[in-house]
Amino acid sequence: MRYEIDSILVREDQIRDRVSVIGRDISELYRGKSLVMVGILKGAVMFLSDLARAVDKDVDVSFDFMSVSSYGKSTESSGVVRIVKDLDSDIRGKDVLIVEDIVDSGLTLSYLLQVLNHREPASLSVCALLDKPERRKVQVPINFRGFVIPDAFVVGYGLDAGGRWRHLPSIWSVRPVQD
Ligand code: XMP
Ligand code: MG
Repeated sequence: MRYEIDSILVREDQIRDRVSVIGRDISELYRGKSLVMVGILKGAVMFLSDLARAVDKDVDVSFDFMSVSSYGKSTESSGVVRIVKDLDSDIRGKDVLIVEDIVDSGLTLSYLLQVLNHREPASLSVCALLDKPERRKVQVPINFRGFVIPDAFVVGYGLDAGGRWRHLPSIWSVRPVQD
């Protein structure tokens, strides 16, 4: 299936404003603490990088990354989640914040929570830029949320369709092209 970009769902300035609010919320909650921000590759890269800069210096922030695969070539969740790259650091006793681009079926996040909880962090929370609640198959907690969006496949600001359009500063919906 080929896609083309359709229309803007969330503009660059809306993302910037929301990221700064979430950054303040995170700063308040973790003030004086150490926080491991765990970015889920590759989709959360832009979000993590902007969000981290919105967290103030009174939080002792470090980064780690994980890569999981929940999709094959299609845009539908296969339900199969596999760790492609694990964390570099031990999170036992640490305050951990998972930073995700989007929660769709919830299968990826549910799996991540299970795996990371098993490592006994002091706390484990979730920050997701986008939430598509209509698509949920399993209930998952989202502590910090950017935007609730309708059931559309979206790209931009880190999100891709077949590897394309991650670099766009806004979030766009895509539509399949008939050929
Ligand atoms: P689940 O279904 O496990 O999916 O909650 C989470 C992961 O699926 C990818 N995903 C998307 N990627 N546009 C994308 O570029 C989308 O609309 C979309 N919906 C789900 C994404 O990698 C997310 O981490
Ligand atoms: Mg992702």
